[in-house]
Amino acid sequence: MQAVVIHKTGGLEVLQLVKDFPLPEIKPGQVLVKLHSSSVNPVEAAGRAGHVPFSLPRILGGDLAGVVAQADEGSGFRRGDAVAALTPGFRPAKGDPQGTYAQYVAVDAAHLAKLPASIPLDTAGGLPLVGLTAWQALMEAKPVPGQRVLVFAAAGGVGHVAVQLAKSLGLFTVGVTGPKNLAWVRESLGADEVVDYTSQDFADLYSSPDKQFDIVLDCLSNTPDRTAKILSVLKPSGHYSHIRNSAGPSAGSDMTALQQMQAAHAAGEGPSVSITLVTPNGKQLEHLFQLWEAGQLRLEVAQVLPLARVADAHQQVETGHTRGKVVLTIPQ
Ligand SMILES: NC(=O)c1ccc[n+]([C@@H]2O[C@H](COP(=O)([O-])OP(=O)(O)OC[C@H]3O[C@@H](n4cnc5c(N)ncnc54)[C@H](OP(=O)(O)O)[C@@H]3O)[C@@H](O)[C@H]2O)c1
Repeated sequence: MQAVVIHKTGGLEVLQLVKDFPLPEIKPGQVLVKLHSSSVNPVEAAGRAGHVPFSLPRILGGDLAGVVAQADEGSGFRRGDAVAALTPGFRPAKGDPQGTYAQYVAVDAAHLAKLPASIPLDTAGGLPLVGLTAWQALMEAKPVPGQRVLVFAAAGGVGHVAVQLAKSLGLFTVGVTGPKNLAWVRESLGADEVVDYTSQDFADLYSSPDKQFDIVLDCLSNTPDRTAKILSVLKPSGHYSHIRNSAGPSAGSDMTALQQMQAAHAAGEGPSVSITLVTPNGKQLEHLFQLWEAGQLRLEVAQVLPLARVADAHQQVETGHTRGKVVLTIPQ
C-alpha cells in the first residue's frame, strides 16, 4: 500500500511517500479500514522534527475516515461501513502502532465511529483528534448551561471545535484569536464575544466578578504570566481545563506548575485544574458526528492536500496560524 514513512527525524524532506509498504494485519478486536482522508496535527510535526522519541521507521498520524475493508463478526462493523477514528498512532511514542498517513490502517473496534451518510469521507478525517480533544477537555469542566467559558486559540483545530461545542452545550462563549479570525469566530462559529490577542488583554477585559469565567479552556503555554492572568479571570469556583501542548502555536506545558495548582486546589485554594491528553473513543466521536449531522458542528478545512503533498501540510501546520484543519486525501 501507499504510505508516508519516516526513516529518520528531521525537516520536511524526511516525509517519504512509499508505494509498497506492507498491508497491516488485523489482530482480534480490530477492523481493517481503507482510508479516504486523514489530517495533520501539530503533535505529528513535532514528532517528525524529532521532539518526541519513537521507533523508526514509522508512519505518522492518528486521524482517519474511510471504509471498512475487513472486519470480524462480532466487531459491530461490516465491510463497506463508512467510519472514522482517532487511533493511538498520533502519539509517536515507542511501541505505539503505525499511524494513518496510509491507504490502510488496522483499528481497534472501540476506537471507530460509524459515519452518517451525509458526512463527506474526504474531509471527515479532519475531525477526530481535534474534536475528541475539545470534547474531553470541556467535559473535564462538567459544564452547565448558562456558564461562561473562555477558549484560547479559538480559530485553530481544537479551538474552533471547542467554541462550537461550548455553544451547543448552552455556554456563554468568548474566543481569543488573532485579528484576521475575529469576525469568523463570532459570526461563523457563534462565539458570543471575541478577544484579539494582538491588541487586547483578556485580563483587563474579564477580571471583574461579573465578567469572570466558570471555565477556561487553554491549549497554550501556562507560563507564570499567563497563569496569573487566567486566575484573575476565573471565578474562585471555576475550572482551568488545560490541554497539554508542546507544538503548533505553543511552546509547551509546564507540568510541575499545573500539578502545583492541582495540589493547591486539593488543599482548598484556587480553581480545579485538569490536564487533557486526548484518548481515542469511538462512542464520543460518534456523538460529535451526530452534532455535525444536526448542523451544530462544522469542520473548517483550511486546505485539502493529497497524501503525496504531506510535506506542504506539515509546513502549513507548523506556522501555528492555521484556521481549522489541514486535511489529507488518500489515493483510492
Ligand atoms: N493534549 C492533547 O491531547 C492535544 C490534542 C490536540 C492538540 N494539542 C495541542 O494543542 C495546541 C493547539 O492544537 P491545534 O491543533 O488547535 O493547533 P493549530 O490548529 O495549529 O492552532 C492554530 C491556531 O492557533 C492560534 N493562535 C496562535 N497563537 C495564539 C495566541 N497567542 N493566542 C490565541 N490564539 C493563537 C492561531 O490563530 P491566529 O492565526 O489568529 O494567530 C491559529 O488559529 C497544540 O500545541 C497541540 O499540540 C494537544
